[in-house]
Amino acid sequence: MTGSLDGRTAIVTGGGRGIGAAVARELTRRGARVTVFARTQSELDQVVKSGGAALAIAGDVSVEADLIRLRASHERVLGPCDVLVHSAGILERGRVDALDPAAWRRVLEVNLTGAFLATRAVLPGMRARRRGRIVAVASISAHLGTAEAAAYNASKWGMLGFAKSLAEELRGSGVQVMTVSPGTVDTKMAAQSPFSPDMAPDDVARVVGWLAAEAPDAMNGSDVGVFG
Ligand SMILES: NC(=O)c1ccc[n+]([C@@H]2O[C@H](COP(=O)([O-])OP(=O)(O)OC[C@H]3O[C@@H](n4cnc5c(N)ncnc54)[C@H](OP(=O)(O)O)[C@@H]3O)[C@@H](O)[C@H]2O)c1
Repeated sequence: MTGSLDGRTAIVTGGGRGIGAAVARELTRRGARVTVFARTQSELDQVVKSGGAALAIAGDVSVEADLIRLRASHERVLGPCDVLVHSAGILERGRVDALDPAAWRRVLEVNLTGAFLATRAVLPGMRARRRGRIVAVASISAHLGTAEAAAYNASKWGMLGFAKSLAEELRGSGVQVMTVSPGTVDTKMAAQSPFSPDMAPDDVARVVGWLAAEAPDAMNGSDVGVFG
């Protein structure tokens, strides 16, 4: 059987569990050879062991050197990166007047700066090959405000601004960037949310897989709502 991503490779940040692990499985099912990246080696190893990815690289998405090492290891073992999925993310809850500034900075560093740094690591290669798809997991929180989640929502609104600006830079380059904005998904992160899950990680993964493999080039810069 042939898959829509046969011969392609992908990197999934936050691929150790939740939405990222489901995306890794979906891209693998479509024929890609996938590297999963997160901090917890045991979770990454489990994704590889279960056949959901080909390679596990442990690191922190907010550390530029870790992402340069990720790109180099991925290329050495699997070849140039065709698809990059940003799924690494954290949620820190608290009212603005009570939120520790260190928590605010950490959320922005991981959720937003991490996506910028991971993009920087792979984009030159994609541009040189005139081929690549970048899909970022934003959120319904990129479109509204939620009490006690200002840092998280700011990071996700920022993700949309980042992706839409990058999309303008990518016009005519052969590389596209898109975002998905899911509602509440049944993962470890959702356990911190006051909202009940509407969906399973696989529901989001199928949309990300379609964007990575099949969406028309004209969807560069598009955000896709995923509400179950
Ligand atoms: N669950 C929802 O309802 C929902 C809805 C909309 C959007 N999202 C977004 O979906 C994405 C995935 O979330 P999830 O729900 O799947 O949560 P999750 O189950 O907690 O998974 C988050 C993943 O990100 C990794 N990660 C966290 N900090 C990292 C860091 N500094 N460096 C590298 N990896 C890091 C985690 O691994 P380690 O901790 O081992 O590093 C884990 O693999 C996030 O961007 C989240 O904001 C979630």
